[in-house]
Amino acid sequence: MNPMRFTRARKALAASIAAFIVAPGYADPAHLRASIVVAPDPHGLMGTLKIDGPIDRSGPFFQSLGTNGRSCATCHDPEEAMSFTPAHADMIFATSRGKDPLFASVDGANCDSVAARDRAGHSLILQNGLLRIALPVPPNAEFSISVVSDPYGCALRIDPKTHVLTVSVYRRPLPATNLSFLSAVMSDGRETIAPLTNGASYSANLRADLTQQAIDATTGHAQATSAPTPGQADGIVDFELALYTAQLWDHRAGPLDGRGTSGGPIHLAAQSYYPGINDTLGQDPNGIPFDPGAMTLYGSWAQTPSVSGPDIENRGARARIAAGELLFDTAPLTITHVRGLNDNPALGQPASFKGTCTTCHDAPNVGNHSLPLPLDIGTSHTGNPSFESDPVIASAVSQLSMPNLPVFLISGCPDPFSPGQSTSFYTTDPARALITGHCSDFNRVKGPILRGLAARAPYFHNGAAATLREVVSFYDQRFQMGLTKAQKEELAAFLNSL
Ligand code: HEC
Ligand code: HEC
Repeated sequence: MNPMRFTRARKALAASIAAFIVAPGYADPAHLRASIVVAPDPHGLMGTLKIDGPIDRSGPFFQSLGTNGRSCATCHDPEEAMSFTPAHADMIFATSRGKDPLFASVDGANCDSVAARDRAGHSLILQNGLLRIALPVPPNAEFSISVVSDPYGCALRIDPKTHVLTVSVYRRPLPATNLSFLSAVMSDGRETIAPLTNGASYSANLRADLTQQAIDATTGHAQATSAPTPGQADGIVDFELALYTAQLWDHRAGPLDGRGTSGGPIHLAAQSYYPGINDTLGQDPNGIPFDPGAMTLYGSWAQTPSVSGPDIENRGARARIAAGELLFDTAPLTITHVRGLNDNPALGQPASFKGTCTTCHDAPNVGNHSLPLPLDIGTSHTGNPSFESDPVIASAVSQLSMPNLPVFLISGCPDPFSPGQSTSFYTTDPARALITGHCSDFNRVKGPILRGLAARAPYFHNGAAATLREVVSFYDQRFQMGLTKAQKEELAAFLNSL
């Protein structure tokens, strides 16, 4: 279908469905339902709720505040679960012939030297939805870095403007929604300028972090020559903090937020959260022990009563989602070679221990980690055996659709898993190590909030998993889960209903 007609068809479909879901029959206040932006995704419908009234697209989040025509919504689109997909980028490239501000060469191309209409030079954003993030090597870096594979020519260079050694990494836009559950801002936590670890300071610190993030996004992505005014920055942060995004409707299971279930954005907006809630490592400030059963949205579908009528077709699909939720909470996995856990002195550096998905995704019904705990689960390693010495990680990464990323050689670091020995290794994204300069932070990224997933493939910070099924296959290998094919489908069905 031609892209313009596709857009119109999407909008018409969303409008008719929105009319349906605001129809009577739901217990929620009608004004909340009326404030949900509904958009189709490959598995059903995604809803983005703004709790204080409908989304006003004239506010500063939607304004061009810089010099290249971009707004925050260029990369955080309410119709795209406050992120965007490669299909969306591809459509915009086609309709604008590559001239849309999304493709500004500062970070919307493989390198900043790429010309506006050069499709090949924009392959990472068009195929994997990735933006280029240029990060300086910190002056105190404990390691040395060199590049062994540089597919686009700007992996590691002295930045022409700042004259500092700068690394290009490529990352997915994290959704600018559900932010009132964050424990770290950005994959590598670089915008967490005030810590999100204490209930008393949480709201003020979150606002401070998001304000700084909005300033940096305006001068960075939008290439503004000056920061947004305090009024504009406040407007952006107020807007973001009012948003809740979750899957609302599943093609097979039907509505996700009725009949005793608690999916969808309205329930999510009422979800309780505080720093350390349900912490895996026993740091819940209320002293409540960790409960691995962190996801409790669809338990009532585990034993669907026998029903007749239209429901009968949905029963199997609902039971699969409930089974997937139970797997998320209970399926055992063996956690090894994870930087941030297996080398963590606070945990006694366990070579291996048993856990579940919720060991790392512990925030109830939200799925990030309720305290900052960036981890290296292997997603920035490569599947190429000459670059990856751990066969388990290499086989796990080979389950993914890894984009063609630069590969860096890191040397001069102690081996976290063999104390006393030094090591060199390869990575596609040093992540937190580029912020702190510490060897112990290599490849460590936050586990993002696991809501609104169905609308924002591909997954992981670098878009390496094309689908949630691929995410599940990765975990099955990486943590030796031994899932059956049916269990993998169930887990993926659950993730798609979040
Ligand atoms: C050119 C695309 C682009 C534009 C424009 C953009 N962002 Fe982002 N945004 C990203 C990317 C990519 C990330 C993830 C970066 C990372 O993890 O290193 C991100 C991350 C974020 C996050 C962090 C979410 C989290 O879970 O940590 C917030 C909040 C955010 N952006 C808000 C904004 C705001 C506000 C604006 C406008 C002032 C904006 N963004 C403009 C691409 C963009
Ligand atoms: C050892 C900790 C750990 C365990 C166990 C774990 N995860 Fe994750 N998860 C992470 C981290 C860290 C990330 C971010 C990785 C990245 O961005 O590269 C992540 C990312 C994800 C994402 C991608 C989200 C996005 O927005 O791209 C999904 C989906 C996910 N995990 C699901 C699961 C499921 C399902 C399980 C159980 C089978 C699981 N996780 C077990 C730490 C963990």
